Amino acid sequence: MKFFIDTANLDQIQEAQDLGVLDGVTTNPSLMAKEGITGKANILEHYKKICEIVDGDVSAEVVATEFDKMVEEGEELAKLHDQIVVKIPMIKDGVKAIKYFSDNGIRTNCTLVFSAGQALLAAKAGAAYVSPFLGRLDDISTDGLQLIADIRLIYDNYDFGTEILAASIRHTMHVVNCAKLGADVMTGPLSSIDGLLKHPLTDSGLEKFLSDAKSFNL
Ligand code: E4P
Repeated sequence: MKFFIDTANLDQIQEAQDLGVLDGVTTNPSLMAKEGITGKANILEHYKKICEIVDGDVSAEVVATEFDKMVEEGEELAKLHDQIVVKIPMIKDGVKAIKYFSDNGIRTNCTLVFSAGQALLAAKAGAAYVSPFLGRLDDISTDGLQLIADIRLIYDNYDFGTEILAASIRHTMHVVNCAKLGADVMTGPLSSIDGLLKHPLTDSGLEKFLSDAKSFNL
């Protein structure tokens, strides 16, 4: 399973990278705004900085919603760095843009996916990644993990190459359950990656080992 961090915060990206388990980054307009990144030049520059930190795919989202503009914006993003994956929303023009990019060798991440039918369409159009938002489904009392399982089944039935990027991860158990279901990638906040480290028996066990080691007089 690949680990992506879902943030535009450079310090957090660096921290996850330093842990040695990071495979990529996802961003979206809300995450960029949260970091106070505004203006086209600054936004493009920020994507380049992210690509310099992480050795892996970096999703950069278009804000256009009409085919021609999506293509123009996506091509500009893709030119920034070979790690850039163009993130496209699951709307009709988005599906057309995914197909266009796929035919022209530009990788895409189909975002805002909330149903198996949408995921099927994204794969048919040739998306490199599909991003089902399981946390947001859970937020409205719908089973986000069931969607991951359904997409896995459909993609395996037809050998689709589209990778399932479990998005909108809220906590470590989302990560573990997505791994059990065979999601190819998870993207979540730093806490969902760091949290995997933690177990109280590890802490108390280490404390005991270290206190017993004092008798070694090293
Ligand atoms: C995915 O690429 C999105 O950026 C993200 O996972 C959305 O997560 P949220 O529901 O926590 O905003």
